[in-house]
Amino acid sequence: MATQDKPRLDPVTARAVIDPTSYAAWDPLLDTFDRLREEMPVAWVEASEDAVHPPFWLLTRYDDAMRVSKDNATFLNNPRTVVFSLTEGIEFAKQFSGGSEHMVASLVTFDAPIHMKYRKLTQEWFMPKNLRGIEDEIRKIAQATVQRMIDAGPELDFCKLVSAPYPLHVVMQILGVPEEDEPRMLMLTQQLFGGSDEDLNQSGIKDLPPDVITQIVAGAVKDFEAYFAKLTAEKRANPSGDVASTIANAMVDGEPLNDRDMMGYYIIVAAAGHDTTSASTAGAMLALAQDPEQWAKVKADRSLLPGIVEEAIRWTTPVQHFMRTAAEDTEVGGQKIAKGDWLMINYVAANHDPAVFDDPRHFDAARSPNRHLAFGAGAHQCLGLHLARLEMRILFETLLDRIDSVELAGEPARSKSTFVGGLKTLPLRIKAI
Ligand code: HEM
Repeated sequence: MATQDKPRLDPVTARAVIDPTSYAAWDPLLDTFDRLREEMPVAWVEASEDAVHPPFWLLTRYDDAMRVSKDNATFLNNPRTVVFSLTEGIEFAKQFSGGSEHMVASLVTFDAPIHMKYRKLTQEWFMPKNLRGIEDEIRKIAQATVQRMIDAGPELDFCKLVSAPYPLHVVMQILGVPEEDEPRMLMLTQQLFGGSDEDLNQSGIKDLPPDVITQIVAGAVKDFEAYFAKLTAEKRANPSGDVASTIANAMVDGEPLNDRDMMGYYIIVAAAGHDTTSASTAGAMLALAQDPEQWAKVKADRSLLPGIVEEAIRWTTPVQHFMRTAAEDTEVGGQKIAKGDWLMINYVAANHDPAVFDDPRHFDAARSPNRHLAFGAGAHQCLGLHLARLEMRILFETLLDRIDSVELAGEPARSKSTFVGGLKTLPLRIKAI
């Protein structure tokens, strides 16, 4: 199909939907998605002069996002990068990796049949049955975190004191990374996912050019690799029950994992497991801090908590998109898609589709059903979804036990990132019990 026949986004909207600052501003972006769902639900997004990237299809309807997520034979993860990047970033990744568009090779970059073989290595670990065995450990981490918050009160930044360190600590325990190395892991994952946000990418410099951001990401990957090479040696010499020992000693088709695949496995577990849960945890707290009635209700009736957790995950949608590549000529939502085309599953847009969620911008603790797409769907559906829910439930149980009331003490701020996003500061005033 000739480019001019495609439903193309106008240049201003095309720029806005890939601009990290749009994700920080949030509401205007949701307005854009609302308009696109009506006017151009499968929209062709082309580069602008100041943001050069390969063109792609942007999906804003829930049904289309679901269909593409579930059809893992037609929509592949491996051929091209799964996280939206400017052309410069893609070229850099190719140089860095020796030809692949993926800076890191991991579960999210594999397709069948290799994907399932790798996923099975750790899948059991993240199932509810196994997680029950670490609930007490998670509760201890939650209790210590809430104590630190109370000690710092009555005014504090919930992101800095609770929602950032808590999931990090949990996932590092699971992985088997010693506590003293956690600050380094936090810095590296934030550099990996922080995009152009000067606070998260640790540069402190606003509006860094894309080539510098790419180099920050590459530096983080290299540092991760050096760290995990050392950890592999230790876990091979002294294997224990943690996930790092499983990865270090894993065999696929009778062979140990090669270095790139092994590093990618550690990195995805380390990185996917905390900034995401941090964002949904902070979102849940924001919703409760803005609604004292809801706080009182759930304090009196803890059976409301799972609904609040689920709604916070939808409302925040911490993973904002993933990309797919069409394996063949096909069709999505009535739009022809050519083999090789790149598509963006925008989970933020899907989770705010009014055809599926009544009044989608409203935080509705009683929303039922709540079949959101924040964890994706299909073969790549989030491996850590039970862990994320469990961590949030335990933390909020602890908070409700220890905190009498909570209110906003300033303006919360969202991070500038197209990929993993959410609150980066949440100023609160608390009254401990
Ligand atoms: C994959 C979201 C927490 C580990 C994913 C995907 C999404 C996602 C959208 C891709 C799904 C798809 O392509 O269909 C989230 C959210 C979280 C969260 C919103 C928190 C609220 C976690 C945690 C872990 C984790 C705690 C645990 C370590 C992974 C892994 C994958 C993944 C390993 C790759 C799975 C695969 O490709 O087979 N997550 N995640 N995530 N997530 Fe999560």
